[in-house]
Amino acid sequence: MKLPEDFILGVSTSAYQVEGAAEADGRGPSIWDTFNVPGTDNGRSACDHYNRWKEDVDLMEELGAQAYRFSVAWPRIIPDGKGAVNSKGLDFYSRLVDRLLEKNIEPWLTLYHWDLPVPLQDKGGWRNRETVEHFLHYTSQVVSALGDRVKNWITVNEPWSVTVLGYQTGEHAPGEHGSTQDALRVIHHLFLAHGRASRLIREEISESKVGIVLNPWIPIPLRSKVEDIRAADRAWDEQVSWWFEPVLLGRYPTSVEEMDGADMGFVQEGDLEKISPPLDFLGLNVYFPDFIRGGAGEQGEHAYEEYGALVNLPRTEMGWRVYPPAIAFLLSEVNRRYDVPDLYITETGCATPDLMSDRDEIHDLYRIEFLRTHLMEALEVGEAEDIPLKGLFAWSLLDNYEWDQGYEKRFGLYYVDYETMQRRPKDSASWYARLSATRELSSWKFSCPSQLAD
Ligand code: FCB
Repeated sequence: MKLPEDFILGVSTSAYQVEGAAEADGRGPSIWDTFNVPGTDNGRSACDHYNRWKEDVDLMEELGAQAYRFSVAWPRIIPDGKGAVNSKGLDFYSRLVDRLLEKNIEPWLTLYHWDLPVPLQDKGGWRNRETVEHFLHYTSQVVSALGDRVKNWITVNEPWSVTVLGYQTGEHAPGEHGSTQDALRVIHHLFLAHGRASRLIREEISESKVGIVLNPWIPIPLRSKVEDIRAADRAWDEQVSWWFEPVLLGRYPTSVEEMDGADMGFVQEGDLEKISPPLDFLGLNVYFPDFIRGGAGEQGEHAYEEYGALVNLPRTEMGWRVYPPAIAFLLSEVNRRYDVPDLYITETGCATPDLMSDRDEIHDLYRIEFLRTHLMEALEVGEAEDIPLKGLFAWSLLDNYEWDQGYEKRFGLYYVDYETMQRRPKDSASWYARLSATRELSSWKFSCPSQLAD
């Protein structure tokens, strides 16, 4: 199977997960520096990409990646979140972008991949509408420094994770356990930040392409029975549509009216229109699905059960179910339900144990199989259903700081030794390089074992 000609094969990272150098060149504190996960480290050192960025661009070149999705750290650009601009922070990204372009790798820039400056969190973070204004100030600085060279812009990465993990369950920074009302405010402000930043970027940069990245829950009917199909449909309407409808249709789903403790009184006149300017593309991060069974519980035919935990599928080290057809299901649903712009899989990948050989090779066949099967499913459904799927970014270029999971969960195509910061290719890096060179999706061929080759 061939990659379509205009299909972009990229790799992804985010600032806080790879950069380290938390105090270098005037960077201010981010909510992840101060977030304390018992038993795990923070990302203040990460992969030291801030100092090793050149070498890391060389790795992308080695892979033959066509595009690099990275994020800018807000606290490097505006250390206190809202005031003075730190030109040294901008210089870092400017050098990175130049190098990428020299190597023919297209920069895809994410403005918000979760590292909010601490002084803004002290004022309520995304619960506070003023954060949107500060985000625009930050965006305008990044746009004027890099807009002449960066054409692909992502406003916000995974508003679901920011809201639910950051402000409801407290698993992610800032670690809040807020009310439904708090969560609704956070969602609204993130979407407003997205919509207003999109306008700004479009006005300032000619030929720019702007999008947002969502990580929709993937509710697949467990069986092909009518009750399961209907139940999965309801699950989508009640939960998944929350993330698509505001940005694509300029409205909140009607299910908000049935939510306990929900009062959308904070939505101001004109907000919904600001949230939903046309998108040039939509990014989807895909990791694992859930399975839905229609039930006749207390709510009668409106009940549905999330069945995923009971389905016997292999899991990654994150505990995430591995089911490649999930990516096809998601693409098909999104395309069927909405009038979609170009779609990109902006992240997919897995954390699995890497087998070290005594010859310094790193065998990660599971990762190869994960990426290969997900890519294959995505391409097949794209072609069969005429879905405007335009590319896929592997998560991740390097092993890195996996948020509340610390450094143990390794997603990289390159292995990072956190003592020496040395990077080493895993087998998946060779597989990826062959894929980008041949544009042919084939399985992994073992080369002659090194012992015999000598
Ligand atoms: C996504 C995040 C990304 C990474 C992967 C594993 O939700 O966007 O930063 O942590 O999960």
